[in-house]
Amino acid sequence: MGLFISSLIFISLRFNTNFTELPHYSNTYLFSTVFIDSPSTSHYISTSLSGTYSGNCGMNIAVFASGRGSNFQAILNAIDSGFLPVRITALISNRSDAGALEIARTHDIPTSHLSQKMFQKEDALAEAVLNVLSKQRTELIVLAGYLKKIPVQVVRRFRNRIINIHPALLPSFGGPGMYGHFVHEAVIASGVKVSGATVHLVDEEYDRGSIVMQKTVEILPNDTPDSLAAKVLKIEHEIFPLAVKAFVEGKIKIEGKKAWIMS
Ligand code: GRF
Repeated sequence: MGLFISSLIFISLRFNTNFTELPHYSNTYLFSTVFIDSPSTSHYISTSLSGTYSGNCGMNIAVFASGRGSNFQAILNAIDSGFLPVRITALISNRSDAGALEIARTHDIPTSHLSQKMFQKEDALAEAVLNVLSKQRTELIVLAGYLKKIPVQVVRRFRNRIINIHPALLPSFGGPGMYGHFVHEAVIASGVKVSGATVHLVDEEYDRGSIVMQKTVEILPNDTPDSLAAKVLKIEHEIFPLAVKAFVEGKIKIEGKKAWIMS
């Protein structure tokens, strides 16, 4: 019966592409959906897949990160404070030396190091990522400084359920090559007077998905790429947990290209 109901919900989600109000998923429903939609895979690489890091209840989240993991840490802090009722069930990184991996290990969060270099075929990486996401019953993917393109198979499977944070005001200063200090250097060089952070949905193109949340910072005459990066990072840590919470509470509405948070 549960399988039947979740099949109906899944089918209605698949075909309701025009106007989507993301539902506040119940665990039962999402468990079933993951099983229905799960791939069969042969590759599976992970250091551990048993624990979770949880708030009181809520969604299963997989975090993808390539770097030091300060945004990941901000989400963990929000869980610790009781603000964010989610479970982090996976940390996936393309880099074995990512600080985010170490943060995950110290919180007993299952980690997976998955990189294209480990696989001969592009499809095999996507399959391995989907396998981890499926095994960990992932409901939402949070990109917290993940520097690789998300495989298209993953984007399709998790349509409107992948969010990213970008350290500038999209749609400006985004796209291939626009990451880290390159973003802030370009912003300063352009002479714009404000920058900021953007949380957006992830689609098949770099930094082009619907914008969910933005916050600005002022650029002062003496700002450098480094000082700007520090200002922007501070607001990233503020808005990312807010945006994740809006998702978890089912408050994101998507209409065509536009996404917004309902109060
Ligand atoms: C952040 O600036 C984020 O906007 C970008 O990558 C950086 C990651 O920083 N996508 P951290 O690893 O979260 O500290």
